[in-house]
Amino acid sequence: HDEDTVDEESKRTQLDDVRENPEGQRLTSDHGVKISDTDNSLKAGERGPTIMEDFHFREKMTQFDHESIPERVVHARGTGAHGYFQPYDDPDLGEYEDISELTKASLFQDSDQKTPVFVRFSTVVGSRGSADTVRDVRGFATKFYTEEGNWDLVGNNIPIFFIQDAMEFPDLVHAIKPEPDDGIPQASAAHDTFWDFASLKPEITHMVMWVLSGRALPRAYRMMQGFGVHTFRLINEAGDSVFVKFHWTPKYGTNQLVWDETQKLAGKNPDFNRQDLYNVIEAGYEPEWELGVQIVEEDEADRFDFDLLDPTKIIPETEVPVRPIGKMVLNETPDNFFAEVEQVAFHPGNVVPGIDFSNDPLLQGRLFSYQDTQLNRFNSANWDEIPINRPIAERHNNQRAGFMRQEINQGKVSYKPNSIGDDHPKETPAAEGGYEHHAEKVDGHKIRNRSDSFQDHFTQARLFWNSMSEPEKENIIDAAHFELGKVDRMEIRERMVYDLFNNVDHEFARRVADGIGVNPPEEPGDELPDHDEADPSLSILNRT
Ligand code: HEM
Repeated sequence: HDEDTVDEESKRTQLDDVRENPEGQRLTSDHGVKISDTDNSLKAGERGPTIMEDFHFREKMTQFDHESIPERVVHARGTGAHGYFQPYDDPDLGEYEDISELTKASLFQDSDQKTPVFVRFSTVVGSRGSADTVRDVRGFATKFYTEEGNWDLVGNNIPIFFIQDAMEFPDLVHAIKPEPDDGIPQASAAHDTFWDFASLKPEITHMVMWVLSGRALPRAYRMMQGFGVHTFRLINEAGDSVFVKFHWTPKYGTNQLVWDETQKLAGKNPDFNRQDLYNVIEAGYEPEWELGVQIVEEDEADRFDFDLLDPTKIIPETEVPVRPIGKMVLNETPDNFFAEVEQVAFHPGNVVPGIDFSNDPLLQGRLFSYQDTQLNRFNSANWDEIPINRPIAERHNNQRAGFMRQEINQGKVSYKPNSIGDDHPKETPAAEGGYEHHAEKVDGHKIRNRSDSFQDHFTQARLFWNSMSEPEKENIIDAAHFELGKVDRMEIRERMVYDLFNNVDHEFARRVADGIGVNPPEEPGDELPDHDEADPSLSILNRT
């Protein structure tokens, strides 16, 4: 490719410009004045009070006092690494000859091209200082610094989600976070509010099955699958669109910890997963994933017994195979955790030409939420100028000013139309690489609703349960006993068994009921028992 093309090193070269190395340097103030003594404050007399004019003391302390920024409202705890993405030379695309038949995105076109990436892995519920090995979903967010701008694939290690509509997200997170009165528990689902919410929300059933499984206890970040979860669109040069699901498959295989290990590790080394990623890369290993796609033609979208726009559903691989299209390699640890891992800001709305959204109502809401929360996290709209977030592609526009603006924009003109700014940034037609949203035909009434096609909450949960081996089933049941055994209110335990699990699998529901003091359902379709029949010996005193 020509010299302007982005390559693996281009993001690192850009970051090198702002890397500061203290080796062999003189200590200075923030304004470049050499400092003679950084241990003793300026005093009036041998044993006197500190003097206000001590600019070095004030600067050093002020900077320290302002070191912390808000943690992410979810996914607060994580770690990250640099690497690259490279498309395969001759991917097996089934009926399609070439990936360019499906998408015009530049990062997929040339198998010699390595696009730089930064990946952040995270837990979801716990705060920044919580333990790594808790039962939780893991975030798997990738920023591709492409020559056409940044593309963020902000995924998780489980291919589905808890809820179907973004409107429910604040409720989900309020239910799953530590309880508001006592702030307990810090990072686990084992409490009343989460299971109360779950037991009243049948759409959560499929996700709960995954969360009770070993998927929620990954052995290492390099041993996790990743999923875009939502259905997205790929768009080719002609403007044609297909639906797509994205899959990351780890070369190290998908591995989990067992419950006992997670409990001990949370005490002995709460950084277990973060340290593993750092150590293996520092030791010269290069964790690798294969990127795969499931492709569905637009006119095929109706052939499934679930809705492609429903994020609580997978597309079974027996129906649509996953086609590998490239690999991602992580080969460099960050230099500075705060500057890179803490300040990286992903946003599902960051797409490049060739990739577009579907109408999945969860995805649609995410397109608003990330930028909004980042305004809170960075206290400025200029977080996209921070080195880790800055694209390699050139940026020119009329956006101006704001807290901590880094760019020095030149000239009189920051508006359009204008007659005095000859070299003013010009728009680019779609045919020449300008982003254009897919011209999907939309027609309907303005309504708040849940489509009928989103109403089957149990078929895929059952599919998941039936795909488990007996030891895996036992692990899920043990997890349900532990989690629900910590729920004080008997009616919540009962609703989980009767309203959710008994609709997944009768035997499963009975086995869960047995371990948590709930009368096992007699029949698959049993109604909730009369509440008085529940075992009164189960109370807060039984919590362990
Ligand atoms: C982080 C909102 C669903 C994956 C976040 C953050 C917010 C948020 C506010 C914090 C971002 C920041 O401070 O930079 C939402 C909303 C959702 C939703 C409103 C649903 C309506 C999902 C889903 C996935 C996901 C379905 C996976 C496909 C992530 C990841 C992060 C994150 C990986 C951490 C990014 C990082 O490492 O910085 N989400 N989220 N979220 N979300 Fe979501």
